[in-house]
Amino acid sequence: MNKKFLDLGYQPLANVYPKRYKLNQIKYKLKIQFNTNTKMVSISKRIPSKKMFNSSYPYRSSMSYTMKKSFKNLSNEIKKRFCPKILLEIGSNDGALIANFNKENVIGIEPCSNLAKITEKKGYLTYRKYWNYRLANELKNKHGEIDLIYSANTLTHISNLNDVFKAISLLLSRDGILIIEDPSLLECIKKISYDQFYNEHIYLFSVISVRNFIKKFNLEIFDLKNLETHGGSIRYYIKKINNKNIKVKNIVNKQILIERKFGLDKFVTFKKFAKKVELSKKKLLNILEKLKEKKMSVIGYGATAKAVTILNYCNINEDLIKNFVDTTPEKINRYMPGKNIKIIKYKKNSLIKKDYVFLGAWNFKREIFDKEKKFLKKGGKFITHIPSPKYFNKI
Ligand code: TMP
Repeated sequence: MNKKFLDLGYQPLANVYPKRYKLNQIKYKLKIQFNTNTKMVSISKRIPSKKMFNSSYPYRSSMSYTMKKSFKNLSNEIKKRFCPKILLEIGSNDGALIANFNKENVIGIEPCSNLAKITEKKGYLTYRKYWNYRLANELKNKHGEIDLIYSANTLTHISNLNDVFKAISLLLSRDGILIIEDPSLLECIKKISYDQFYNEHIYLFSVISVRNFIKKFNLEIFDLKNLETHGGSIRYYIKKINNKNIKVKNIVNKQILIERKFGLDKFVTFKKFAKKVELSKKKLLNILEKLKEKKMSVIGYGATAKAVTILNYCNINEDLIKNFVDTTPEKINRYMPGKNIKIIKYKKNSLIKKDYVFLGAWNFKREIFDKEKKFLKKGGKFITHIPSPKYFNKI
């Protein structure tokens, strides 16, 4: 049974950055629910994939040094630990991971044609298609079974999760490995990072819910890694249950115990979280309004989908945060979805004469602090809502 615990109000499509501000932009109710049987957390209203993932999808994995480094490290690990003949990536985006492999050994799946074009141009075989059972069948006929399937921040974006894992189970060889990574529910609850919820993020996985869900597809988690990416993610190493050559590591049960201790299997935990989210909104607005009274100049850094949730939930307008700066070409000179706040191109001197900078990309805090030493030296401060709204100048 699905029980709702959080209402984030009306939210526009998070990754559709309009050229002009529209007062009557279409918004959808964003409510978050917990399934008392499967322990899965998800959003209650699903938007059709084609509305979100199309030829103008602006998110590029290669835009941050942190992500590129994470993919490079993982590709080295995959080569050493699993030596796959073929690696298939579901949601290959602009090729941040597959760029680390030989063209002959990888297949990308990417429905957003603007992104698929980038990997195709570099000579990587890329299917411009949505991941589903039909495609898995087509791939199996063409390429045979696959020994390594990888997917980062993609499976949680697909509504029909049964079809997702049925398709994976069909294509994965008997001894094959599935590696997925997605934001961690535990980290979200700990950090009060309610901005992990937006219309694209249909599910927020925990080890408990993933383990429960994949069982019926003859799949089990055998290893895990906690990652710092996307504000705290988990990398799940998965195999077929009937592959007895690989042992399930202790870390899997350990992590499940940690999650249970934290109450991720109980509805009451999420009700408490919702209360903390309301408080977080009040505190953030209080900080921004005080800065406005003091006539401080405040801009945003990183026009992220996460920031869209915050701006629309807290009703933050251009009087509180004047602009956002971002490096992504697809976002520049456009507006933050649902708000009259323009995104301008990030330049080395973007923070000059700014007093406070709201971290939209708080998940890249370290990278940003490294880059903006001058701003900090001159007395500039960053604002974050993680784990509780505050301004700061030291990590
Ligand atoms: P994400 O949090 O959804 O991964 O998005 C990060 C966004 O932040 C992306 O639009 C790129 C932007 N960004 C900058 O503009 N400057 C930076 O230094 C970093 C790390 C990210």
